[in-house]
Amino acid sequence: LNYCVPRTRKEIFELLVKGLMRLEYRGYDSAGIAVDGDKNTTKDNNQDIVLIKKKGKVKALDEELYNCMNLEAVLGTHFGIAHTRWATHGEPNAINSHPHRSDKNNEFVVIHNGIITNYKELKKYLNSKGYEFESETDTEVIPKLIKYVYDNRERDDLSFSTLVERVIQQLEGAFALVFKSRYFPGEAVATRRGSPLLIGVRSQHELSAEHIPIHRRNSFNASYHNRPEDSSTAVSVTGDGKGMEYYFASDASAIIEHTNKVIYLEDDDIAAVVSGKLSIHRLNRQAGEDPVRAIQTLQMELQEIMKGNFEAFMQKEIFEQPESVFNTMRGRICFETNKVVLGGLKDHLKEIKRCRRLIVIGCGTSFHAAVATRQILEELTELPVMVELASDFLDRNTPVFRDDVCFYISQSGETADTLMALRYCKERGALTVGVTNTVGSSICRETDCGVHINAGPEIGVASTKAYTSQFVSLIMFGLMMSEDRISLQGRRLEIINGLRTLPDMIKKVLALDKNIKSIADELYEQKSLLVMGRGFNYATCLEGALKIKEITYMHSEGILAGELKHGPLALIDKDMPVIMIIMRDACYTKCQNALQQVTARSGRPIILCCQDDPEVSKNAYKTIGLPQTVDCLQGILSVIPLQLMSFHLAVLRGFDVDCPRNLAKSVTVE
Ligand code: G6P
Repeated sequence: LNYCVPRTRKEIFELLVKGLMRLEYRGYDSAGIAVDGDKNTTKDNNQDIVLIKKKGKVKALDEELYNCMNLEAVLGTHFGIAHTRWATHGEPNAINSHPHRSDKNNEFVVIHNGIITNYKELKKYLNSKGYEFESETDTEVIPKLIKYVYDNRERDDLSFSTLVERVIQQLEGAFALVFKSRYFPGEAVATRRGSPLLIGVRSQHELSAEHIPIHRRNSFNASYHNRPEDSSTAVSVTGDGKGMEYYFASDASAIIEHTNKVIYLEDDDIAAVVSGKLSIHRLNRQAGEDPVRAIQTLQMELQEIMKGNFEAFMQKEIFEQPESVFNTMRGRICFETNKVVLGGLKDHLKEIKRCRRLIVIGCGTSFHAAVATRQILEELTELPVMVELASDFLDRNTPVFRDDVCFYISQSGETADTLMALRYCKERGALTVGVTNTVGSSICRETDCGVHINAGPEIGVASTKAYTSQFVSLIMFGLMMSEDRISLQGRRLEIINGLRTLPDMIKKVLALDKNIKSIADELYEQKSLLVMGRGFNYATCLEGALKIKEITYMHSEGILAGELKHGPLALIDKDMPVIMIIMRDACYTKCQNALQQVTARSGRPIILCCQDDPEVSKNAYKTIGLPQTVDCLQGILSVIPLQLMSFHLAVLRGFDVDCPRNLAKSVTVE
């Protein structure tokens, strides 16, 4: 929403499309845009707002746009909305994609991230009032409902934000919404509940003059005041409103190239921009609620979300791991004193030490980070540790008590199941700890305390560097918990030394890329790939198999070697590709037994083992030799060849590595 310099419609399209492309990792089966019309030149002659929607990736929408409208039209204030969809209700097609509209004249249009759980009731009601629906989505009830509220308003001077306020009072579920309307030209209203939404703020002064002192920039202070109209509470960005530009987005990567000043909205905040001024208000402010929304300065750099010389974000992120893992540890481990301090946890350490058990909860890769560190956490904390898939944890109505400490592992900090598990445990009085990669995310804000894993933005849908940083964060937590246990000092020292050399070891593993690619060349036409191991490397099997499934669409299974005889052995023959992880740790002999079982059935295993392990290598069809580190850190090294393997397999099979079919980076629906 631009109150700055005039821009052409082409520039506005480009800005929106670029923003969408940066968010495309969240979903990409269709996309759409709504901008102000131009009555003389549009094909849709009579419309103030023009909607353009297209099935497929954002690129398809982009191609369509340039045929549609007068691109050179110069607009003073301009407000456009755009959306990339990942279908939950209704198949991916143009009609079901967003923006959705109130009627054929596009009086109100809206984009939505989330899910409206009571849409059926609302639809029935609106149908009974004569509103006709065109899509199969839950979202469409929202524009219809705002039109209904507008059509039945008791006064003519109701503001746009009041209409939105009335709408969200009727909605159940999760949403981040941005509204546009022909009745409120140049005005924007946005709101959220459960799904993330932030507002980027940029001023013309920042655009054109570097010499403006910093305190001028700081003059965008947000403060509360009361809105007379409905006595709810508001925050406004002060300033005369001129020369302002506002960006509403689901996450910062969409807007970081325009501004690094952002406001994170809280649940039920309603943000409105009118005549270039932003105000935020909410109904029913509770006592003790934070009365301001701070404008934060993001540290994220544009290059962090660019691909650089890599073929795919996933590949870039795999190769970033020496740095991302280092950044996770930066300033937290003192290698002289062997002290580990996680600033976000230190005030709660006493309470955590007194707890009855640790419950570590996540989904997908984040769950695997919990599996990977469970054993060492049990050893270092001497507490029972449960690891839980968030959905199953909720399905079981798992008993949770006040003296439980619950960890929520989530790269995005927005995964719906994990977030619901957090709320579930909070209600039961447990201490909640977030381990996320996204500052300002819902999980960050709703937990009592937490750790930022600091891996930098992760764009590839298949998570890689977040996994290794989650792994390291949980190990650091174990080290912090065991600082005063005399009997554990030797073990701690060994692990801390292992962490010190970890970035270099990761570099050595990455140097095996060519070897891994050559194995992928042999495997890529296979239908299936098994990954087997046990102990500290079991999580690697699960995570490796998940990577392979996600992006290569091959069937892949992570198998606990201890279970081999109880079923998986039936799959083994000379044609079934199987990767085995056999490291020199407490499970070494048992893993060699499993290897014997596989070779005895003519299996031809590809073995991930320690460098120079002739004993194991001689039974291998192929070997990937890894540097050896401390047993509990070995999983960080053993997962990387499988990340690389899945990447090469996907490329060889001709698939888009960063946009796997049917999957999204951030699953904000149940
Ligand atoms: C989705 C992503 C996975 C991720 C999982 C949990 O399935 O595709 O890569 O591991 O969600 O996401 P979170 O953001 O909570 O770690």
